[in-house]
Amino acid sequence: MWKAEAEPRGGSHLKAAPVLPPGRWQEFDPFLLMMEDWFQAGTFDFHPHRGFETVTYVIEGRLKHEDSFGGYGILEPGDVQWMTAGSGIIHSEDPLPGETVHSLQLWLNLPKAEKMTPPRYQDLKASAMPVRREAGAVVRVFSGSSGGVAAETKNVVPVTFVDISLEAGASVSQDLPGDYNGFIYVLEGRGRFGAEETPAEAGHVLRLGGAGGAAESEATLRADEPLRAVLFAGRPIGEPVVQHGPFVMTTAGDIKLAIEDYHAGKFGRPKRR
Ligand code: CO
Repeated sequence: MWKAEAEPRGGSHLKAAPVLPPGRWQEFDPFLLMMEDWFQAGTFDFHPHRGFETVTYVIEGRLKHEDSFGGYGILEPGDVQWMTAGSGIIHSEDPLPGETVHSLQLWLNLPKAEKMTPPRYQDLKASAMPVRREAGAVVRVFSGSSGGVAAETKNVVPVTFVDISLEAGASVSQDLPGDYNGFIYVLEGRGRFGAEETPAEAGHVLRLGGAGGAAESEATLRADEPLRAVLFAGRPIGEPVVQHGPFVMTTAGDIKLAIEDYHAGKFGRPKRR
C-alpha cells in the first residue's frame, strides 16, 4: 500500500539541509518542515515560536535548551525534546562550549483550535524510551507505538516517531493507522523500503503515500547493509497554513497578532543562566 520515493539530498558536509523543505504544507501535513543541522554555540540564540511544536532529535553532541518559562535541560545524543510552543515561547538551543551538535528538528503543526494551548516541553531521554526488539532489529519508540510497544509521549496531533536500526539482511514492519501521512529519513546504510522495495541510502527521504482508504497500513524496511532510519507519521490536520518566520498560524491576521503579542512581552522573558 505504501508508495516510497527516494529524494536524494545534500550530503552531511553541509551545515544545514532541509529534509522536508518548507512550503509544501498540504503534501507534508501535519508536518511543516524538517531541518538537519550541524552547529555550534551561538547559532540559535533566544527566539520565539507560536502555533506549532518542535521535535528536536540530537544525533551527536550535547544541546542545552532554556526558555522563557524557566525550562532548562541538556539533551545528550539519542535524546529528543518535544516542545509545544502553543500560545508562545522564547527559547534557545545551544551546543555545550566547544561541541558541534548534529540534530534533526521537525516542525509539527497544531490544529487551529490548539494553537493557543499553554506551552510545554517533554524531554524524552533515550534510556527511558520503550524499545521493540525483533530478529536483527531494534526500534526505539519516541511517540506512538511499534508492534504493540507504546510510548507515553503526549501528542496533540497523533504522531508515530521511531528510530529503527537493522542488521544487514534484517527487515521490520512498522504498523501505522491508514490515515497517517509520513516519511522515512535514512541516517546510515542502505536498504529497500515499502511494498515496492524502493532502494534508498543515507541522506535519502522516502515519503509514505496514503493507504488508499484502508484502516491500517505498514511500512516495511529491509536492510542491505546495516541501516538506521527515522520514521515519522501523523494524522493530517487539513487546515490552511500561514508561516511567517517562527510563527505558524492559519490566517495572516493571526500572524499579525503573534508579532504584536511577542513585542508586547506575552511570550514571557527568558533569563540566561
Ligand atoms: Co526554536
